[in-house]
Amino acid sequence: MSARTSRRWERQLRNRIESRTLVVGVVGLGYVGLPLAVEYARKGIRTIGYDVSAEKIAALRGGTNYIRDLDDRVVADCVASGMLDPTDDAARLGECDVVFICVPTPFTANKDPDISFILAATRTIATHKRSGQLYVLKSTTFPGTTRHYVQPLLEEERFRCGEEYFLAFSPERVDPGNKVWHTGNTPIVVGGITPSCTELARAATALAIEKVVTVSSPEVAEMEKLLENIFRSVNIALVNELAQLCDRIGINVWEVVEAAATKPFGFMPFYPGPGIGGHCILIDPYYLSWMARRYDFTTNFIELAAEVNESMPYYVRDMIVREIARQPVELRKARVLLLGMAFKRDVDDLRHSPALKVAELLRVEGVGRVDYYDPYIPSVVLFEGSDRAETLSSLPRLNRAVLERYHVVCVTTDHSCVDYQQVARYSRVVVDTRNALRAIPSRGNIVLLGDGR
Ligand SMILES: NC(=O)c1ccc[n+]([C@@H]2O[C@H](COP(=O)([O-])OP(=O)(O)OC[C@H]3O[C@@H](n4cnc5c(N)ncnc54)[C@H](O)[C@@H]3O)[C@@H](O)[C@H]2O)c1
Repeated sequence: MSARTSRRWERQLRNRIESRTLVVGVVGLGYVGLPLAVEYARKGIRTIGYDVSAEKIAALRGGTNYIRDLDDRVVADCVASGMLDPTDDAARLGECDVVFICVPTPFTANKDPDISFILAATRTIATHKRSGQLYVLKSTTFPGTTRHYVQPLLEEERFRCGEEYFLAFSPERVDPGNKVWHTGNTPIVVGGITPSCTELARAATALAIEKVVTVSSPEVAEMEKLLENIFRSVNIALVNELAQLCDRIGINVWEVVEAAATKPFGFMPFYPGPGIGGHCILIDPYYLSWMARRYDFTTNFIELAAEVNESMPYYVRDMIVREIARQPVELRKARVLLLGMAFKRDVDDLRHSPALKVAELLRVEGVGRVDYYDPYIPSVVLFEGSDRAETLSSLPRLNRAVLERYHVVCVTTDHSCVDYQQVARYSRVVVDTRNALRAIPSRGNIVLLGDGR
């Protein structure tokens, strides 16, 4: 292909971006994809949202929003105005100038990366591709995925990256439940296969996101995302380990962290808890440790952090069992109430939640009854996929009569809608793994993770 022809596609796409006449496509309308699609649509850019889930498409078409952080009205307006066009027809991707890929990247049973969703989405895109399109992978993954797994599925003899089509990686940073930083105002990193890929991805992203930072390659962008999440995992593990030490020596780790956080530089507070969950911090580090093994390299920090963080639900189980043992009740007749099942405060995301693990461990230990209250999670399945699978439904409400029924109430997720004053007042014993009751004077019935009492 002549240099002139290859420039033509770049110029055409640049013009569409600059004139805001482009059509944006988003593949995968989950926690990442839907907010991104809405961000473009509400900024007046025609956006096609494609998902394999007919249920999600039907909901959106009916004006129903299923992502808590998004305003129901904004979603409904975007759909009603036609700026956001939800579809399960993959052929519509051919209409798009820029396609963002926002599909899951879970791990396998052996905690190895599972990029099958990325590969499936790329194959779908490849079936409907046309010249002049830009593809931007946003799913978190190990370095080299964009270049060595995605690009080969798109590339053909007459369809070359940087000439007839453009490809970049741009990790997502959305933090569900965060009231300050959302999709539109959180800076985003982009790295393309070629300089023109980077520049087009930067320009397309800047239409919806306030600040875009470019890096020299997709690999740098892929790696920096993993660094962000490993940084969190390692620091949470550090404070979880200190919480266990503080329990032994009788120092309140929460007070320690708050005191350290008064240092105006060089320190960032992290807090202990019953473990980590969600689709990111728990999983992503394994993507890098898997890759490192292929280079005969052991990522010691990642392994150690995972070991400490994954031991926390066991530690919390032991705290609860100890509190049951102090009461005149047999374990098999004891009743435990977990407050909060979502993996973190004020979200409805259950994926890999440590609270779920605590519930399972209590059942394995022989605790007679384990219930939970979480207004965001109507029901859960313990031991999913095994022959002892057990469905639990959230208690419909929390009040004095409910709290008094349990031998131990454990705060596993500190949702802000819970009345912790009431919890402290009417529970026999509260095991608080989140310091949710910090402002409430103890009647001697509060056992706080990491304070040694
Ligand atoms: N959830 C977060 O807070 C968050 C934050 C930053 C990065 N990430 C990363 O973003 C990616 C997406 O995460 P998520 O939380 O949005 O996942 P999600 O499960 O909420 O959404 C993924 C969506 O993709 C759809 N999907 C799956 N395969 C598809 C295909 N082949 N074609 C079209 N649609 C398909 C699913 O139906 C689902 O609606 C992951 O790599 C994750 O690690 C997530």
